[in-house]
Amino acid sequence: MRLLIKGGQVIDPANDLDQIMDLLIEDGLISRIGINIDENEVEVIEARDMLVCPGFIDMHVHLREPGFEYKEDIVTGTRAAAVGGFTTVCCMPNTQPVIDSAPVARFIREKAEKAGLVKVYPIGAISKGQAGQELSEVADLLAAGCVAISDDGKPVLKSNVMRNALEYTKMFGIPVLSHCEDMELSSEGQMHEGYYSTIYGLKGIPAAAEELMVARDLALAELTGGHIHICHLSTAGSLELVRQARKRGVSVSCEVTPHHLTLSDEILGDYDSDAKVNPPLRSVDHIQALIEGLQDGTIDCIATDHAPHHREAKDCEFQLAAMGISGLETAVAVIMDRLVHQGKLDVFDMVRLFTCGPADILGLEGGTLSIGARADLTIIDPQALRKVEPEKFQSKGKNTPFKGQVLKGWPFITIVNGKIVAREGSIVQGGQD
Ligand code: DOR
Ligand code: ZN
Ligand code: ZN
Repeated sequence: MRLLIKGGQVIDPANDLDQIMDLLIEDGLISRIGINIDENEVEVIEARDMLVCPGFIDMHVHLREPGFEYKEDIVTGTRAAAVGGFTTVCCMPNTQPVIDSAPVARFIREKAEKAGLVKVYPIGAISKGQAGQELSEVADLLAAGCVAISDDGKPVLKSNVMRNALEYTKMFGIPVLSHCEDMELSSEGQMHEGYYSTIYGLKGIPAAAEELMVARDLALAELTGGHIHICHLSTAGSLELVRQARKRGVSVSCEVTPHHLTLSDEILGDYDSDAKVNPPLRSVDHIQALIEGLQDGTIDCIATDHAPHHREAKDCEFQLAAMGISGLETAVAVIMDRLVHQGKLDVFDMVRLFTCGPADILGLEGGTLSIGARADLTIIDPQALRKVEPEKFQSKGKNTPFKGQVLKGWPFITIVNGKIVAREGSIVQGGQD
């Protein structure tokens, strides 16, 4: 089984590579990268004018299984990942049961293996049942394949629990992923607190609800020496806190989502619940700060926070609607169209933020095109124009505020372990042995 990718712009930030070249895959591994590789008896992918990148990694998705299969399951979620250009995803533990024990983590890994499309790493819960009281069995979770811990979906309110989590994970060398939210400040909030929440008459969630918890978690990381990773960072103040902490030597990383980078709170004016998300879409000054954070390296990676919901949870009064955006199938196009093509983000940095960025945070293999590495690749057609049509999503979650928009720059082919799993928005059946 040999695959030759001809004439693409090969971008591999981990190896500081950006050049028009050919790339040969043999036996599921990257075997050669060079100019004018000619081989007989190979399948050829013509990649002229395409970006040939390491497989994209999304370190923050909600696959919903077990427990909420009506929103998403491991098969549909990994299909969404594959067509979205992702070869690896990490799934959050706010399932039913919660991923707080080895059997649940193993169940997810086995299901994902059976689905046979992309790689799935579970993230274990920080606290038992995500109840915020008692630490889960972290060593068991890691032995069962978890790569980090998080109580995402909600914050860890007790500072002592977070302190112990950071202290304890230090010896395993894994990060604690924190959903930063002061629940008193955010209580009953529907959108970002500011000018538009006043105009639209919706209860606001102040930026400080996030920033207080970011400050606390940074203080606890500093105290313990553990590694804190800030999930879906969304405010200028949070970013500045991370920047300053890193200067002091605190072990910290952070992610931002495509929607927080490209959509502002103004769009809530038509009360479209598909734009209701937690943390909320912020104002343009926050967005500007986040883009600067991408450019200056303060932000380590882009993650979708893919949060599929059932129609009924969104087709209701705005106040009652669930929070979350189905993000896997639009992430690459949104970043390409709104940032790369607008000159706000370098294509090389974009690839870094989706590949070695997340891989380094979690210590995952992958995220590079090194010779001998597993052949996980994302090939992007930067000029492809396509409309976002949620009814055609692989994901069960059709909840996207990008619906109907024509975007430029889409995943062309997704390759996992040397096999094509998706091509131009469709799953390639039998992609895996
Ligand atoms: O919008 C969100 N949806 N934010 C979260 O923190 C959780 C997520 C979900 O699980 O639906
Ligand atoms: Zn969250
Ligand atoms: Zn999340």
